[in-house]
Amino acid sequence: MAIGSKVESTDLTSEALQAAAERARNYLRELANRSVHPQESALASLANFQEPFPEQPSNPVEVLRMLDEFGSPATVATAGGRYFGFVIGGALPASLAAGWLASSWAQNAVLRIMSPVVAEIEEVVIRWICDVLKLPPGCEGGIVTCATTANFAALAAARHALLARAAWNVADDGMFGAPPIDVVVGEEVHASILKALNLAGFGRKRVRVVPSDGQGRMRADKLPKLTNNTIVCIQAGNVNTGSFDPAEEICARARECGAWVHVDGAFGLWAAASPKYSHLVRGFELADSWATDAHKWPNVNYDCGIVLVRDALPLRAAMTISAAYLEPGQRREPAHHAPESSRRARAVELWAALKSLGRTGLSDLIERTCAYAQRFAAELREAGYEVLNDVVINQVLVSFGPAERTQDVIRRVQEDGTCWCGGTVWQGKTAMRISVSSWATTEADVEQSLAAILRIAGEVCA
Ligand SMILES: Cc1ncc(COP(=O)(O)O)c(C=O)c1O
Repeated sequence: MAIGSKVESTDLTSEALQAAAERARNYLRELANRSVHPQESALASLANFQEPFPEQPSNPVEVLRMLDEFGSPATVATAGGRYFGFVIGGALPASLAAGWLASSWAQNAVLRIMSPVVAEIEEVVIRWICDVLKLPPGCEGGIVTCATTANFAALAAARHALLARAAWNVADDGMFGAPPIDVVVGEEVHASILKALNLAGFGRKRVRVVPSDGQGRMRADKLPKLTNNTIVCIQAGNVNTGSFDPAEEICARARECGAWVHVDGAFGLWAAASPKYSHLVRGFELADSWATDAHKWPNVNYDCGIVLVRDALPLRAAMTISAAYLEPGQRREPAHHAPESSRRARAVELWAALKSLGRTGLSDLIERTCAYAQRFAAELREAGYEVLNDVVINQVLVSFGPAERTQDVIRRVQEDGTCWCGGTVWQGKTAMRISVSSWATTEADVEQSLAAILRIAGEVCA
């Protein structure tokens, strides 16, 4: 087979897309009837991919057949309604389908001249997100791969701004010999911030750690002295408990002396979209930069993170790329707001998700998943198990007694395949984490999952 003439390649593309659509539809239709974690036989079949690099071309439809036959059964059913591990959303229909269309556009979202449509859509979604997250309307930002990259980009902007105040141009002169910057984090800081601090040249251990309370909230009364060369990293939504740092108090302290406040709000910031939960994000709008994910609670397909800054200049100064052949236009350029240069059109899926949900749909998604988390907590408590956190949003931590017993329940729940929950250790106590983050989760999914967890816990604890 030769991929030669234009007619042939158009036919091939159309056939391949048709096959992909059919296979994807079947995959999603059958998701509810399979084990959430792939079975051993499916994992064993992955060996079929271990072949030498093919000497000859293959028909795209045949390539898809192999991918579906051996790949689909070995996926984790995170697109379904009974996956409660980590903080993983599904993919909303509009987002998934827009991704297919955007893939066929094959745009490079680096500069407006390469993709006017993606550059335009990035501008729109950044404005929408500032609106729905109740952040200052003049904020700028970039669309990146994940919250870790967003944290990194924000910290690079903070570094640029703080060092510029000390007449140091970090973009030109780097970090060696630069005036010192103090970094303050909470005791329950997410590992993502530590990785971002490492990437930005601060070092993950050169931080001052503020004690947290029993829910993982930074103790504002324990903040050290802040100055105008301090970066304070606070959190909206602890990955274990879902708790929020006291932003109002911390930002007020930071503003008195010109310290920079960065918010890691990977999922928690989206509580702002619900009138019922928006009180939790009060004060976070006073910060200087924010990182969040659309691939978590808003259910945009992977990968999609967002960095936002109050002042666009330091972010642009830190992220701008220039070369004679990369002349920027007059308007906002996507790549000048993100670490990546060549990049896929991920803003399209984000736009489609937000457009399809609207304000009420997003609020409903947040409130529905929080209500399901409350139901998990209430029924587990009622059955005599200890819920370790105040269930403020969509995260539940449950202990089934001693560490080994809790680990045993987690292992058996995962093996059972009705649903999937992970484990953690929360302030010294082993727990099962239940994170309700998917648009696809229904009341029936919650009931089926609770029945499986309670049956297994009953057997283990008998
Ligand atoms: C609070 C917080 N920050 C950062 C991250 C990292 O997100 P990502 O994997 O998208 O980089 C997570 C992931 O769960 C998180 O909960």
